[in-house]
Formats: sequence, C-alpha cells, structure tokens
Amino acid sequence: MDRSERFATKVVLVTGAGSGIGRATAERFANEGAQVVAVDLSPQGLAETEQSVARAGGKLLAFACDVTDESAVRDVINKTVDQFGGIDVLVNAAGIGRAVRFEELTFGEWERILRVNLSGPFLVTRYALPHMLSRPGANIVNVSSIAGLRGQAYNTAYCASKAGLLNFTRALALEFATRGLRANCVCPGGVKTPLVKNFVPDAGMESHLLAYAMPPVPGKWGKPEDIAATILFLASEEARMINGAALVVDFGVLA
Ligand SMILES: NC(=O)c1ccc[n+]([C@@H]2O[C@H](COP(=O)([O-])OP(=O)(O)OC[C@H]3O[C@@H](n4cnc5c(N)ncnc54)[C@H](O)[C@@H]3O)[C@@H](O)[C@H]2O)c1
Repeated sequence: MDRSERFATKVVLVTGAGSGIGRATAERFANEGAQVVAVDLSPQGLAETEQSVARAGGKLLAFACDVTDESAVRDVINKTVDQFGGIDVLVNAAGIGRAVRFEELTFGEWERILRVNLSGPFLVTRYALPHMLSRPGANIVNVSSIAGLRGQAYNTAYCASKAGLLNFTRALALEFATRGLRANCVCPGGVKTPLVKNFVPDAGMESHLLAYAMPPVPGKWGKPEDIAATILFLASEEARMINGAALVVDFGVLA
C-alpha cells in the first residue's frame, strides 16, 4: 500500500489496535498520514503494531488500557487531548467472543462479552465524543459484525453485544447529526484473525446451523486489511453522506 495523505492532520483513536482488524486499521490510518492513538489490553500486541507503523514511517502513540475500565479510558482520552488537542476519528474495534452452547454460557461470561463489546465502546465514546464535536468531519466507526444483524447459534452473548453496538451507533448518528458528527458500523463476516480460533465449533455442534453463517463461496475468509479499507472509507470525506449505516463486508453471507 502506497503512502497517501488522505488523513493528514487527523487524530485517529483505534481500540483493539494490538491485533487483527484494529491493528490493520491503525497501520493503514498511519500510512495515510494520520496521527494514530492505539489502545489495547495487550502491551505486547501494541508493541508489535508500533514496530510495524514505525517501519512504514507512520506516527503512533500507544496506550495499554482495558476499554471496560472507566478511569483508565478517561486517562487515555485526557492524555490524547492534552497532546493533540482533540480527536477526529474514533474506531471501536476491541472485542471478544467464543462459540459456546447457551446451556454452558455462564452469567459471568455473558457479562464480560457485553462489557467488552458494548460497554467498552460506550465508555470510549462517552469520553472521546466531547473532544470530537469541534473537529470538522469528525466521525465514529464501530466494528459490529454480521452477528449483529442476524442470529448465530452458539453465539448468543456475542450476537446480543454486536446488535446492541449497532443500534447504539444508529442512535448516536441521529442524536449528533445536527452537530456534524457521523457514526457508522462496519459489519464483517469471517476474517482471519486470532479471534476466530475461539469460534472453532466442537464436534457436537449442529453443522447445518453453523452453515447458516458461512459464505456462498465455501472457505472464503477476509483479511484484516479488507475491513480496514472499509473503515477508512467510512471515516473519510467521501462517505460524508453515510450516517447510521451498517456496512456489511462478508463475501455475501447475508445476501
Ligand atoms: N475476525 C472476525 O471474523 C470478525 C468478524 C466480525 C467482527 N469482528 C470484530 O472485529 C473486532 C476486532 O476483532 P479481531 O478479529 O481483529 O480480533 P483480535 O482478537 O485479533 O483483536 C481484538 C483485540 O481487542 C483487544 N481487546 C480485547 N479485550 C479488550 C479490552 N477489554 N480492552 C482493550 N482491548 C481489548 C485484544 O487484546 C485484541 O488485540 C472485534 O470487535 C470483533 O468482534 C471480527
């Protein structure tokens, strides 16, 4: 990917930037001129993202932070604003999940998935948004999923969290439309990242139910870069008319 200046002067905060889709997104924003603030639970993951951005000549500031920890999130946003004066683009990509039968899903795991995938984006948005309102073209891109648009067996908590994230985003899009801030979701299908090893079904899971979430071309997997490209499009001025959208990127699973 050649360098460009599409996001020069923009401050872009990406959560989940230590791996997979968040990392590819941070790398691409940096490659297109943005000052990137990378947030992740994993210091090791962040260090790897930092190295690859530095190799490409980009600008990255990394914070190890749990997006469910309110005071840690507040601290990261305050440091970002102290350093750069505001935030132009927020990408909430941090997320967790795993394939689990409903009868085996504990309340603790249900709460953890909802907390990371839904309360995490709420918290980061809650503290970042006031610093976005004065920035022309400011917008939020949340990483939902095709699991936010249709049910998937063995995935109840994840489906609930991603559907919640989607309608949270739509409500924000409406509430802030007159103040010039857009909010959209990207809804990926299967993308080869470390997360997907958690979704390998066990032998007893019903294959016809699993097939319901498979692409029409068998065995097709996306790359993190496919989703990063869509996120950058949504965040760009070319998408200025797109607000409250759920952009599906899934090789046709939901077609
Ligand atoms: N991979 C897919 O097939 C797929 C499909 C649809 C949606 N998604 C969504 O895309 C997003 C990125 O997932 P990925 O596939 O790149 O997975 P990944 O596991 O490669 O990356 C997720 C990152 O989030 C970080 N994270 C987890 N909990 C966190 C927390 N509490 N605070 C801060 N960071 C935290 C992890 O450390 C990790 O670096 C997730 O929201 C996921 O639900 C993924």
